[in-house]
Amino acid sequence: MSRFKAVIFDLDGVITDTAHYHYLAWKRLAESEGVPFDLAFNEQLKGIDRMGSLDLILAGAPKTYSPGQKQALADLKNRHYQDLIAGMSASDLLPGAVDALAAVRAAGLRIGLASVSRNAFTVLDRLGIRERFDIVVDAALIANSKPDPEIFLTAARLLGVAPIDCLGVEDAVAGVAAIKSAGMLALGIGSAEVLTEADLVIPGLDHFELSGLFA
Ligand code: BG6
Ligand code: MG
Repeated sequence: MSRFKAVIFDLDGVITDTAHYHYLAWKRLAESEGVPFDLAFNEQLKGIDRMGSLDLILAGAPKTYSPGQKQALADLKNRHYQDLIAGMSASDLLPGAVDALAAVRAAGLRIGLASVSRNAFTVLDRLGIRERFDIVVDAALIANSKPDPEIFLTAARLLGVAPIDCLGVEDAVAGVAAIKSAGMLALGIGSAEVLTEADLVIPGLDHFELSGLFA
């Protein structure tokens, strides 16, 4: 029997490698505005909503932008991103993702998705996995982006499970911070050197083992 009653997954970078597509789209936009952009800078954007990410990028720009110019740049980045995800299919699920979702379901736990992406439902549909989640919380349902705990607390509430009985799964520093602020245990996906606040870190969902983790 698991010590958890629900598992709440992030999407980008956990279930599928859209984190890389966000990186490519931001890099294209940043460099067109004269802002240097690399993987290290991108790490702090993971889990941050679109406008919050743009503000972080434009802080390094040689000029200032009006709200209208910023909206146009955010829209342009989203078009770059949507071009990149246009061809996605079930073959873009990361290794172990479907098995992890099936294992959580087989153990009788509830399954949530917590993504600040306004493209979350599109990506879920392209991957063909929307119905595997009992609830999905995206940017439309929350006011505060990660690292605020709101998205994970909303997911727990909609699942009808107390935060302390939830496991959150995240690849982003901001996402792990959100899980911990929500009072949940955090399973990091990636590197323990980056996700220092996580309770446990595995390289990917192909290392996910519900009964073995946190035993
Ligand atoms: C998060 C990603 O899931 O969604 C961020 O980690 C991204 O990189 C954010 O900026 C918002 O996504 P979108 O699709 O609404 O621009
Ligand atoms: Mg992520």
